[in-house]
Amino acid sequence: MKQFPPHDGVALAFFINPLHTPSTEYPETCRGILSLAAHRGALATIRAWDGYEVTPLIRAETLAAQMGLETLWIKDESRRFGIGSFKALGGAYGVARVVAEATVPPEDITVACASDGNHGRAVAWGAKRAGCRARVYLPSHVSAARAEAIEALGGRVIRVAGEYDEAVAQAAADALELGMTVVTDTAYAGEEDIPRTVMQGYTVMVEEALEQMGRDRPTHIFVQGGVGGLAASVVAHVWERAGPPLPTVVIVEPEEADCLLATARQGRPTPATGSLNTVMAGLSCRHVSTLAWQVLERGARGFMTVPDDAVFPMMRALASGLAGAPVEGGESGVVGLVGLQAAASDPDLRSALGLNEGARTLVFNTEGATDPGLYREVIGEDRAPRRG
Ligand SMILES: Cc1ncc(COP(=O)(O)O)c(C=O)c1O
Repeated sequence: MKQFPPHDGVALAFFINPLHTPSTEYPETCRGILSLAAHRGALATIRAWDGYEVTPLIRAETLAAQMGLETLWIKDESRRFGIGSFKALGGAYGVARVVAEATVPPEDITVACASDGNHGRAVAWGAKRAGCRARVYLPSHVSAARAEAIEALGGRVIRVAGEYDEAVAQAAADALELGMTVVTDTAYAGEEDIPRTVMQGYTVMVEEALEQMGRDRPTHIFVQGGVGGLAASVVAHVWERAGPPLPTVVIVEPEEADCLLATARQGRPTPATGSLNTVMAGLSCRHVSTLAWQVLERGARGFMTVPDDAVFPMMRALASGLAGAPVEGGESGVVGLVGLQAAASDPDLRSALGLNEGARTLVFNTEGATDPGLYREVIGEDRAPRRG
């Protein structure tokens, strides 16, 4: 792996993916995971939900110029369905499908999931919408505020001692014993159907962004990775919808939760090497989603990690108007932009990735203040962007 020297205080690890095939058509083998046909189903369902609104696509002209890029778009998910992250699109779509296909009434259904916070909130919200119950398994590092947000939606929170993976295992075991249906956002052996649906829900966000761009298309996309489901949805939808060549997609992870980078280095699913101890709570994952990796192994050009200490400054900068107007970006929300800024200020990476004055770049602010207390602490009480 090439190690780049620190720039602007951000020490980068970066890996160029040798398996990348951006000039081919969207691979036939990936169509069973994410496809335009499945996307249309998700779009039709989700658009019909109460409260559906297209989220803003911000064009951050000054910031783009500061980074020496032609354009920077920020797709802002901080207000999605009032639950604060893009995850609403996936978890709730998974629940809707479970309920639609069930042979019993919704009140007799309990869905279960493991979560670092946002997916659990999405599932609890989806369960409330669909009239069923939800149990959410949270690993010990997840904050009390995130648990409370799930409970406020009627979800039952079960605390699990250990990492996210232990929560996944506990949710699966309890589901078997208690007759619950698992709505997981990560795919693993024997559990691929629902995570596929969850990822199909995320493609609604990608489609909105492409529509908002009109005839413009990004040349580069920097997207944060937890288990890789979000990134796979972005890659698959842009690839199939817009055709080859695929834009240069770079996956950005926390230094301490680098499962996608470790996987790319080995060319097969490989656990994160870090401690998982990171402020980027939504990205704190040990293992990749096996389905997501099948898309990313051909579609992602690069994998990089960023350190925790780059995150709070970016949250503050966005809140104070770095993008032209104040943007509420949470700890896992701003990570794609942190990665882009770090790469754009590294001469070697700029040239390796073709990040230059002609680059039209896209990032996703995937969450707002999903942990409001922490957000206020980071930003300062009086500086938080006002809710519209
Ligand atoms: C705010 C936020 N952004 C990004 C991600 C990453 O998504 P994925 O785990 O599908 O890679 C998550 C995952 O929970 C998240 O909560």
